[in-house]
Amino acid sequence: MIKDLSQFVNQEVTLKGWLYNKRSSGKVKFVILRDGTGLLQCVYFKGNVTDEVFELADSLGQESAIEVTGKVKVEPRASGGFELDAYGLKLISESHNYPITPKEHGVEYLMDHRHLWLRSTKQTAILRIRHRLVKAIRDFFDNCGFTLMDPPILTPAACEGTSTLFETNYFDLGKAYLTQSGQLYAEAGAMALGKVYTFGPTFRAEKSKTRRHLTEFWMVEPEVAFADLNNDMDLAEEFLEYIVQTVLKDKEEELKILERDTTLLKNVKKPLPRISYDEAVDILMKNQIEFEYGNDLGGTDETVISNQFDRPVMVHHYPAEVKAFYMKRDPQNDKFALAVDVLAPEGYGEIIGGSQREDNYETLLSRIKEHNLPQEAFEWYLDLRRYGSVPHSGFGLGLERTVAWVCGLDHVRETIPFPRLIYRNTP
Ligand code: 4AD
Ligand code: MG
Repeated sequence: MIKDLSQFVNQEVTLKGWLYNKRSSGKVKFVILRDGTGLLQCVYFKGNVTDEVFELADSLGQESAIEVTGKVKVEPRASGGFELDAYGLKLISESHNYPITPKEHGVEYLMDHRHLWLRSTKQTAILRIRHRLVKAIRDFFDNCGFTLMDPPILTPAACEGTSTLFETNYFDLGKAYLTQSGQLYAEAGAMALGKVYTFGPTFRAEKSKTRRHLTEFWMVEPEVAFADLNNDMDLAEEFLEYIVQTVLKDKEEELKILERDTTLLKNVKKPLPRISYDEAVDILMKNQIEFEYGNDLGGTDETVISNQFDRPVMVHHYPAEVKAFYMKRDPQNDKFALAVDVLAPEGYGEIIGGSQREDNYETLLSRIKEHNLPQEAFEWYLDLRRYGSVPHSGFGLGLERTVAWVCGLDHVRETIPFPRLIYRNTP
C-alpha cells in the first residue's frame, strides 16, 4: 500500500489502484496512482520503458484501474515523501469520461455522484477521520467499563417528540416507527448492567433544511445508573476530551488535507465551562440578540453563546417546557429540566443533548399523559420505575455533527458516506 512505502525505499514494488491524474512533458509521463491509502507519483521515462507501456500511460483515462511496478525513491517534494521510478504498467480495467474531473463541480452535482465523489482526497480524509472518531468513541466507553448494547431500530413509540417520526406498517400490529434514539432501551440496559452505551443509526423526519440536520444519523448514547446531572456533565467532558485529542494525535495528515485550523480543537480539555440556561440568555441579551425567554435556543443563539468561549460549553437547566418528557425536573425549581446541551465552538452548535431521567413512577406517568403519548407503548418503560428505580442519566452525541466540527466542514452532508436529507435519498 502507498502508506507503507517508507519500508521499501530503493526496492521494487508492484501496487494496484486507480489513475488519479496524469501529466506529461515530452519524454516523461507522470501517472498519479491512488490506492485508498494515499497518492503516489509514478514517473515513466521514454528511454526506460517499452513503447507499449509509454503509450498505455498516455491513453489511460482518469480512474482507470491499473497496476504499476517500479523502484521507490525518496522525494521530499512529493505529498507522501516518495515517488516511483516506474517501468511496469498494466491495465486492469478502463475508465473513460469519468464524471468528476479536477475542475470545480457544484455541490448538487457532486451529491448526485456521491458514490464516485467518495474517491476524492478530501472525502477519503473525512471518512478516515469519521472512522477514527467511531473507534475512539468505542474505546472510551469500553475502557470505562461500559457495555455496548444494541437497541432496536423498529420501535412502537416516539422518544424525541412525535413530529419527526418515520412510520411504517408492521404486519398485524399496526404502525412501527424508525427509532429517533436508543435512549429508552439504554435505560433498561443501565438497570441491567449499570453502565451501557448504544451506538447506531437513528432517524428523524426533520422538515428542517439546515447544515446540521440529516434524516438518518448516527448517535452514541451512554446511560449510567446512579448518576445525576453533574455526573453526566463530568462524563461528557471527559469523553469529548478523549475523542477530540485522539483524532488530533492520530489524524494529523487528514486534518492537514482538510486545511483544518486546529487551534481551538486543541483546547478541548476538561473542565469545560458550565453555564445555566439563564446565564446563556444573559449572554444573548448582552449581545442584543432578540430572544424570548423560555424558548429553546436556536442555531444562531447557540453560535453567539459558544463564541464567548474558547472550547465547547455546557448549557444546563433548560426550561422543562422545551425539553423531552423523560427529563427529570429540578427539585429546587420544577420549571427547569435537569438537562444539558453541549455546544461546539465555531458555529457548530449542539453536538450533545443529555439529561438526568425522571425516576419517579407517578411523575413519569403524568408526563407521558401531558405529552399525549400512548401509555400502553410505554408500560415497559414505566416498569423501570416500578421495579427498583434509581437516579440515572445519559446523553447522546451526534456523530455527523461531531465529524463536521472536527473536520471544519460547513455542512453535515459530507460527514456520512451516503447522506439522507429531506430532499435527497439517493444514491
Ligand atoms: O438532543 P437529541 O435529540 O437527544 C436525544 O436524542 C437523547 N435521547 C439523547 C440521550 O440523552 N440519550 O439528540 C442528540 C444529538 C444532538 O445533540 C445532535 O448532535 C444529534 O444528536 N442530532 C442530529 N444530528 C444530525 N441530524 C439530526 N437531525 C439530528 N438530531 C439530533
Ligand atoms: Mg437536543
